[in-house]
This record gives sequence, C-alpha cells and structure tokens, in this order.
Amino acid sequence: MAAADARIATILIATRSEGKRRELLALLAPLGGHLVTLDEAGIAASPDEDTIESYETFEENALAKARWFHARSGLPCVADDSGLAVDALDGRPGVRSKRWSGRNDLTGRALDTANNELLVQSLAAADASGAHGRAARFVCAGAYVDSAGEYVCRGETVGFILDEPRGDDGFGYDPYFWSPELGRTFAEASIEQKAAVSHRGRAMRALCAAVSADR
Ligand code: IMP
Repeated sequence: MAAADARIATILIATRSEGKRRELLALLAPLGGHLVTLDEAGIAASPDEDTIESYETFEENALAKARWFHARSGLPCVADDSGLAVDALDGRPGVRSKRWSGRNDLTGRALDTANNELLVQSLAAADASGAHGRAARFVCAGAYVDSAGEYVCRGETVGFILDEPRGDDGFGYDPYFWSPELGRTFAEASIEQKAAVSHRGRAMRALCAAVSADR
C-alpha cells in the first residue's frame, strides 16, 4: 500500500450532530477512507469543545474544529461549520445559528424547535414580507486537516424562509428553508436531493476534490 493510502485509511468526522453525521457520511465517501465519527473513535464530549467555534467566520471555525480533533486523535479530520444567514435580519443568525435561541439547556430536536421559534418571531418583528424580505442562504465551510496539510472550502445555497414549517426530514432550520432549486423545503427533500444543492453538499464536494487532487 502506498504511503498516501495509509495516511487516509481512517478519517475522523468531527461532529456530534446526528443530522450532520448522516449527510457527511455520504458526502465524504469520495475520500475513499474509513469514516469514523467522534463517538466511534471513542472521543468523549468535553466542555472545552464549546469554546472551539468562537470565531466570526465559518472558515475559521471549521478549521479550528478540524485542527482540534486532529490534535486529539492523530487522525485526518474533517469538520464543518455552517449556519443560516437571513437578509432581513442582517445576516443573522450566521455563525451563531446553533445557539441562537440561547437555550444552552437544550440539544437535538428541542434546540432546533427553540431556534425555529426565534426565527419566526424575529422575521415577524422585522416585518419581513415578500420574497425579498424572506431571502436567506445557508453557508457551510468544510475543513480537512492531517499531518501533511490543511484545506478549507465553502458552499452556499439560497432560498426563502417560510411562515410555517413543511416536512419532517432533515434537521435544524430545514423545515422553514424553501429551496427554489428543489421546489420544496430541505425537510421535504430526500438526503440525496438535499445534498445535490445544499451548502454542505457544495462545500464537501469542493473539499473532496481539493484533497484528492493533492494525493
Ligand atoms: P454548527 O455548524 O455545529 O455550529 O451548527 C450549525 C447550526 O446551523 C445547526 O445547529 C443548525 O441549527 C444550522 N444548520 C446548519 N446546517 C444546516 C442544515 O443543513 N439544515 C438546517 N440547519 C442547519
């Protein structure tokens, strides 16, 4: 086996989000390695993790997360930092999308619900009406770090925020995000349909191509 193949044999996916994990496993298959999650690698959650993503850009946060878990594990590591930017809210919640509601006592679906309630309230308070006021984009930065180098790629997808949720799949803000490219919300899309146009799909395809080009 060539040295480069040995180097990429096992790749750590740095997320504890089940929604992201499902998407990333499929999107990172082109890397050709054995993909393991933090839990599968036996990396227990620590309070320090909450301080990793404290930067003002998605790129810096993704790179910080990939560096952190590469240093802890010694494995090549892929991380993503992502979020929703709403025009009528001046780009909020942006890099604060995960903890926007301030409900640090919640995780998973309950946290998503609190964030979505704040999204609806914030748009009502901003009196955002019509397509322009509800325009939004999802942004994702994907980072890959191993002992030989570092890569960061960005992906975006544009859409509109609905008044009412639609669909049961996906995670986070998906039920409120209408994708004109798909003609449905991300929560109404299959995982393959979402991946074809999503911020994460675009970022990870670019990341896989960049990493693979150097091997
Ligand atoms: P982080 O990247 O772990 O900081 O979390 C980003 C947050 O942005 C998630 O917790 C979701 O609330 C939101 N988000 C990012 N990507 C998506 C997506 O694909 N669908 C819905 N919400 C997302």
